[in-house]
Amino acid sequence: MDFTVDTATAAVEASFDATPDPRLREILQSLTRHLHGFVRETSPSIEEWNSAIEFLTDVGKTCTDTRQEFILLSDVMGVSMLVETINGQDVGTESTVLGPFHMTESPARELGESIDLLGGGRACVVSGTVRSTAGTPLANALVDVWQCTEDGFYDVQQPHVQPEGNGRGLFRTDEQGRFWFRTVVPSHYPIPTDGPVGRLLQATSRHPYRPAHVHFIAAADGYEEVTTHAFVAGSAYIDSDAVFAVKKGLLVDFVETDDTVLAAEFGVEPPFIHARFDIELQEKETL
Ligand code: BEZ
Ligand code: FE
Repeated sequence: MDFTVDTATAAVEASFDATPDPRLREILQSLTRHLHGFVRETSPSIEEWNSAIEFLTDVGKTCTDTRQEFILLSDVMGVSMLVETINGQDVGTESTVLGPFHMTESPARELGESIDLLGGGRACVVSGTVRSTAGTPLANALVDVWQCTEDGFYDVQQPHVQPEGNGRGLFRTDEQGRFWFRTVVPSHYPIPTDGPVGRLLQATSRHPYRPAHVHFIAAADGYEEVTTHAFVAGSAYIDSDAVFAVKKGLLVDFVETDDTVLAAEFGVEPPFIHARFDIELQEKETL
């Protein structure tokens, strides 16, 4: 049959009919329909299509062992959050993007230890309890945290300034499911803008900033793992995250307190900043 604008989609869809894996077949045929629909709707010139291909080529060339520009593209297009939200647990703590800075293993730390290896910042304690969605505290749960400094940089972005593992910690909850650690209040910061994704943001008058947050991955045997953030309520860019990751339920007040009992419990001098972030995990379905 002649290839025409009207027959193109059916022809390409049919070319995948014999794909043995039914899920792969479904995905490729759906991709064909949507991709062709996009091309029909926008009717790109050959020049425009070539620049789209050049852009994607550039995205690929920017990727290295420590830089994943395709993930960044997926992030700024809101696709990472869409996939995360579709796959996230329907009850309990909501999930958000993993982001590109969980690239090194967090060092195991004792409860109460500081993840701020630089010192000198405003003392802050983050504490919480990991529970099942039925309310049972989960002892021995893993709580992996990572965050940037008060200046908005992760350790891996400043290898000559920050010690390795700064802003990172892997904690185990106590018998009552509790975790707590000392840190500094993270800052908002820009996602990497020195590549094609940065050019895309600039060409579309979009800013590159993420509101201040602490990353978490919480895991316990028999429960769904959750990748999420505690967002600093009131942070700059809280209403316009460059990667669309903010959810209302993840806003956390970082409050200055001079409560001496709380300070003694956490082993800090008052006044200090306290943030409470409880995490709820959904039980895994047993088949
Ligand atoms: C982050 O929060 O670390 C992050 C997430 C998406 C893109 C860039 C950074
Ligand atoms: Fe981050």
